[in-house]
Amino acid sequence: MKNKKIIIAISASIAAYKAAFLVRLLVKAGANVKVIITPAAKEFVTPLTLSTLSKNPVFSDFVLNKNGEWTNHVDLGLWADLMVIAPASANTIAKMANGICDNLLIATYLSAKCPIMFGPAMDLDMFIHPTTVQNCAKLQSFGNIMIDANEGELASGLNGKGRMAEPEEIFSVIEKHFNSEQDLLGKIALVTAGPTYEIIDPVRFIGNYSSGKMGFALAEELANRGALVTLIAGPVEIIHHHKNITRINVHSATQMFEAVNENFSTTNIAIMCAAVADYSPITVADEKIKKQNEEGLTIELKKTKDILKHIGSIKTNKQIVVGFALETNHEEENALIKLKEKKADFIVLNSLQTPGAGFKHNTNQITILKNSGEKIAFNLKSKNDVAIDIVNEIVKITNTIDA
Ligand code: C5P
Repeated sequence: MKNKKIIIAISASIAAYKAAFLVRLLVKAGANVKVIITPAAKEFVTPLTLSTLSKNPVFSDFVLNKNGEWTNHVDLGLWADLMVIAPASANTIAKMANGICDNLLIATYLSAKCPIMFGPAMDLDMFIHPTTVQNCAKLQSFGNIMIDANEGELASGLNGKGRMAEPEEIFSVIEKHFNSEQDLLGKIALVTAGPTYEIIDPVRFIGNYSSGKMGFALAEELANRGALVTLIAGPVEIIHHHKNITRINVHSATQMFEAVNENFSTTNIAIMCAAVADYSPITVADEKIKKQNEEGLTIELKKTKDILKHIGSIKTNKQIVVGFALETNHEEENALIKLKEKKADFIVLNSLQTPGAGFKHNTNQITILKNSGEKIAFNLKSKNDVAIDIVNEIVKITNTIDA
């Protein structure tokens, strides 16, 4: 925690007083804390309390002082190693999820390159309202870490879920975050994520339902543990947060192949998580294809290059290659064939049969099948936790390679 630069961002909630305790805990642990407070939150806790505890000026407005100097939210966002929005009110969560940038807190959130945590605080009905549930899920899909609310007595007098986590609990999540093992320091990783779009004509493409969530969670986990990550992403809406991640956006399977090929020789760990199209139209129409033929329309497709198979065939024994298999039937049998054919170190099997696993979900249930014959089945968990399991297995292999 020592010398870590942390922004504590406070929005309007009765739980704002707990943020003062959190600031105190962090400063005592040696962190350098800067506080941002929304104008409405000043009704709950004073900037004077927070500046005294943080030993730093408190930021609230775009205009810093009477001379008309502005508060540079971009600098603030880039300064931080971590930004923690706690309490995060329903209003602030909604603004974060939708980019409604009407105060300094949101402007800094949108500018920040560091990991983001948010601790919701609101009444129980607000917390379970579909819009809040969706907004929280959306933020998590961006890679933001939610520090879940607790059950208990609420300011309304009602009892239920919505109490912001206690300062000690938030402190412990932050502590764990900074103490996460840097067991991949010095390693270079390559991750593919998301779908590919194969163009048919100027308005149509062949795509799939991949959200990119699993690949992004893997990139974040590798980066958290010290690796420098190149993330090659198909068309997805997700934002990455870690400064160790360099993102290359691609559209088609061919572009993804080229980007992987360009980067693979210097890579220690490659995880091919993208749902790459297996076939692509032979010709791309210059104009929108018209409804002409009453019988139907035939589009001729050609096979795309199998990226995983390609890197599996050229990899050295110092490089680790991991593939994914999303199967609907004879799951394990098919995944084992893939493991052999693609010469991967291991295949991560996820089945579409498991409720809550696979495309679009925030959770996944995997089985790892290794080329050593070992098989490890995991429970259904969040994609962030699945990423930890996968990276743990990779670290075990790197240890044997480096030994
Ligand atoms: O053969 P299948 O497409 O089921 O294999 C899935 C695995 O292969 C995934 O890891 C996926 O990222 C990778 N793949 C690839 N290039 C392709 C097709 C699949 O890298 N053209």
